[in-house]
Amino acid sequence: MSLSDEHVEEADDALVRRAEVLFGKRFGRPPRWIVAAPGRVNLIGEHVDYNDGYVLPMAIERHVVIAADRPQASDEDAESKISLFSTALRETADFAPHDDTPSEQPTWHDYVRGVVAECRAAGLEAGPLDVVIDSSVPLGGGLSSSAALEVATATLLEAVSGDTLDPLAKALLCQQAEHRFAGVPCGIMDQFSITFGQRDHLMLLDCRTRQIEQVPMSEGDISVLVINSNVHHELTGGEYAERRRQCEVAASRLKVESLRDVSPAALAAAEDRLDATHLRRARHVVSEIARTAAAAEEVAAGDWVSAGRRMLESHVSLRDDYEVSCSELDLLVDLASRNLGQGIFGSRMTGGGFGGCTVTLAEARRVDELATAIARDYERETGITPSWFTTRPAAGTRILRESG
Ligand code: GLA
Repeated sequence: MSLSDEHVEEADDALVRRAEVLFGKRFGRPPRWIVAAPGRVNLIGEHVDYNDGYVLPMAIERHVVIAADRPQASDEDAESKISLFSTALRETADFAPHDDTPSEQPTWHDYVRGVVAECRAAGLEAGPLDVVIDSSVPLGGGLSSSAALEVATATLLEAVSGDTLDPLAKALLCQQAEHRFAGVPCGIMDQFSITFGQRDHLMLLDCRTRQIEQVPMSEGDISVLVINSNVHHELTGGEYAERRRQCEVAASRLKVESLRDVSPAALAAAEDRLDATHLRRARHVVSEIARTAAAAEEVAAGDWVSAGRRMLESHVSLRDDYEVSCSELDLLVDLASRNLGQGIFGSRMTGGGFGGCTVTLAEARRVDELATAIARDYERETGITPSWFTTRPAAGTRILRESG
């Protein structure tokens, strides 16, 4: 058995044990099914998935775990419902398995409800369930805790129904649930990285063709450091949809199907067709797609210095042209950059923005010391205590237990 296989098994054991204990505490019996789905971090390729571009994310060693069983026959009330308990939020919710009307004010359980509804449309019936949801993916930190919940739910429904979804259809169905039930017009990056993640691989995803190239990252000397700014500016919902619309307007003024069809040189030659805001948005997207393709090659060649430089360029572009960063993320990136060439290769905001996390490439042997120093300086300047962890690229969603 290779080292990485052992790691996967150890992580799985811990997840199974925790889910078992939590389910047992609530329902007084062991769960029949346990599934897990990881969060994700995006190394580079931000806000380009809905522009048909390239993204380079990876699944992380933080998971949403779901433990479930059929309700006991003695409990007639529960027998017609899906009853959820979220350990992170300490909240319960229940709904009928065939209820497929989106809520006016979406909240956490709408992600589950949405996936149940979309699975039903795809021929997978959930039926009544007792469910405990546990998570080590920080909520609202830009690490796709909601997409992890969606994909974990779809994986649970596969286990429960005994049917398997085509993984591509599964990822798309989860994206559809997010559009319809959470009201967020997200791209495909999150659901794809969580569904198709492979241990020790980054995923170069072409969001136009949906082709995936797994890029090996088994270099033990390099660490992926995730620092959570622990701020979340509540602008995100509307701002995300607005950015997406601005890209569509820019593409239509440039007479192309999407901004993927525009090269940096073509954009420079057509600047007068866009107003200042649309030009800035397009400039980010067009340059980010080119940066991501180049960074994937650099990572594959082990050229961390060049890939790291592109991450910093990506951050500047997101900050100045796309305007989705915030002062706390800028500070984290700035603090990391002060150690460029001394253990840090590159750093940038990751995910939708307006708070959440940065992702930093660092030398494994120095990463703890560097992260501690960055966290200390960040806290000194902002008064906010950040949290951080390092992670290797992890495996995608999976069923951990099916019994009975
Ligand atoms: C969110 C969305 C993704 C992607 C990123 C930005 O995470 O869910 O589809 O657009 O923002 O890259």
